[in-house]
Amino acid sequence: MNLKISLFLFSFCSILALNAQPYKQFTPGEIWKDNNGKHLNVHGGGILFHNGTYYWYGEHKVGGEIGNTAQVGVSCYSSKDLYNWKDEGIALKVNETDPASDIVKGCTLERPKVIYNAKTKKFVMWFHLELKGQGYDAARSAVAVSNNPAGPYIYLKSFRPNAGFWPVNVQPFHKKPVSSSVKSKYCGGKGCLPAPPDSLNILGRDFKGGQMARDMNLFVDDDGTAYHIYASEENSTLQISKLNDDYLSYSGQYFRLLTERYMEGVTLFKRNGKYYIIASDCTGWAPNAARSAVSDQIFGNWKELGNPAVGSDSELTFHSQSTYVLKVEGKKDCYIYIGDRWTPENHIDGRYIWLPLTFEGDAPKIHWKDAWSLD
Ligand code: GAL
Repeated sequence: MNLKISLFLFSFCSILALNAQPYKQFTPGEIWKDNNGKHLNVHGGGILFHNGTYYWYGEHKVGGEIGNTAQVGVSCYSSKDLYNWKDEGIALKVNETDPASDIVKGCTLERPKVIYNAKTKKFVMWFHLELKGQGYDAARSAVAVSNNPAGPYIYLKSFRPNAGFWPVNVQPFHKKPVSSSVKSKYCGGKGCLPAPPDSLNILGRDFKGGQMARDMNLFVDDDGTAYHIYASEENSTLQISKLNDDYLSYSGQYFRLLTERYMEGVTLFKRNGKYYIIASDCTGWAPNAARSAVSDQIFGNWKELGNPAVGSDSELTFHSQSTYVLKVEGKKDCYIYIGDRWTPENHIDGRYIWLPLTFEGDAPKIHWKDAWSLD
């Protein structure tokens, strides 16, 4: 073989080795490369389907423990088939110049999700924001907007939900004066509070300033009404808030559910007219047994259904934490559980656990598969 041909073959093979695409299946927990041959960097993410394309948004991580804070922003990838993803760049950038910006580099920006507003024709991004240097105390929701699915997104504001509004299922005791300000020390989960949250009336404590909002998701119902679901009240309780028509703010109507159950990694989706939640327990980056719940109405009687994961390693949800449930377009009754396998010592190496989500009666089930495809 002459030198030119060998060189050509060598570079061709190297490119093939570098770039694993096209993929034809999901291999949960493995390195998953984008069109540039780089492991996807889209943690705590969510997916939007728009005009025949899927867009995957998530936390863009850098190497090392500093990756626990936002150094870059929100990444976006696009795909037609869900296996092969094209890097669309940074959809929302952190602010590198203005220390007063809510989203200054070094803030904590988690679990971004995007929905499309058909009335305003805007793509609306919500995420959980913690202000730089304040640990997890701020517990705010933040909103950004764009004319294009891949961005760039313009940062609008951050705030705590529903200041001055009571939930539709408020209890009389919540409205009694709150004696002292109960402060918790964030420890990522249970045991942060000196007593059960309702006995301390965390809801009432936060009535004026707005409710806490940490791990979160968005859901758009068939009638176009959008909802924000988030871990609130010191992570003890979920709240679902109805958004205004433009999806940019809260309507003041919200609902408390699964109170004092300490859920995170919360997802919300609909199947056959019923609403479902898949979430995690509250143990920080460490995996735990997932939770699930069903209700006939979104502001309704939510019934817990237990851990949807089945089989070996199900008690740790296959070493993953839920971040999104995707309904696959054009396939009947086809849902995908999407979870993160976090690596907090080096977040950039975090893996993605995509598994088929099936149903036994009402109950969602997730079984492990080394490799699988939509066929
Ligand atoms: C997890 C949560 C992540 C992040 C982390 C911080 O439980 O799901 O989004 O907030 O805690 O420790």
